[in-house]
Amino acid sequence: SIPTHTLNDGTRLPAIGLGTWPMSDAEAERAVAEALGLGYRLVDTAANYRNEDGVGLGIARGGVPREEVVVTTKLPGRHHGYEETLASFEESRRRLGLEYVDLYLIHWPLPRVDKYVDSWRAMIKLREDGLVRSIGVSNFTVEHIERLEKETGELPSVNQIELHPLFPQQELREFHAAKGIVTESWSPLGRGSSLLEDPVIVSIAEAFGVTPGQVVLRWHTQLGAVPIPKSSNPERQRQNLDIFGFELGPAQLRAVSDRAHRRLGGDPVVHEEF
Ligand code: A2P
Repeated sequence: SIPTHTLNDGTRLPAIGLGTWPMSDAEAERAVAEALGLGYRLVDTAANYRNEDGVGLGIARGGVPREEVVVTTKLPGRHHGYEETLASFEESRRRLGLEYVDLYLIHWPLPRVDKYVDSWRAMIKLREDGLVRSIGVSNFTVEHIERLEKETGELPSVNQIELHPLFPQQELREFHAAKGIVTESWSPLGRGSSLLEDPVIVSIAEAFGVTPGQVVLRWHTQLGAVPIPKSSNPERQRQNLDIFGFELGPAQLRAVSDRAHRRLGGDPVVHEEF
């Protein structure tokens, strides 16, 4: 079984999960059912991935008791605001076909729209009502999180951010650690880059007899972050979960991310995804 983190609300989060972007409903249904069969217990989707129906069907088909699966979805930018968030959550819940969602995240802060604090108050309400077990954010910076804390007194349990060896986000991770927030990594394998062909990573993989993908995912878990690699391929799903039988040394951990750093995705301060 997979190691877990205990969140600041007392619930448990598996140390690795399955990402589902970009999967269609049909692809997500199959991939989620297969992943649960392989032992995955954390599944990540979002209203904006447009596959919550498929994810829900995959969970139903996976045959794992509901309480053993941590299902994550996210509030889209177009639904920021207190009432809008409550209504948007209800739509996500209905599409997923679930009585409750384990982890609900604000997908992007959209600071220019300036409604994320209202959305956050609605997330707190959803948790109080028992419709959501844990609440968090995604793509928030230190400044956005500090504002939530100042205005509501409530910190997120999770911040899901772009994180991989090309963009290791050390400062933000240190802030999370100091605040008791668990970091989740999106694009953990550096999607769209040639990270997995990097000679340093390839040679570390060879030394352990594992794949470059496994080295990178192990790097995440040793940093204390929870990667959610997307894979629709059963063999890669299997290897992505099989990362706890080896350990990178301190020099290897440094070598994996010792390179020029750059984002592959949107900058949270300006990215507006509705
Ligand atoms: P596939 O679905 O065919 O396995 P990220 O999670 O960083 O966004 O990366 C996801 C991409 O990486 C997908 O294209 C996925 O393709 C591929 N992928 C997933 N796991 C591995 C792996 N272990 N090795 C190589 N590629 C992988």
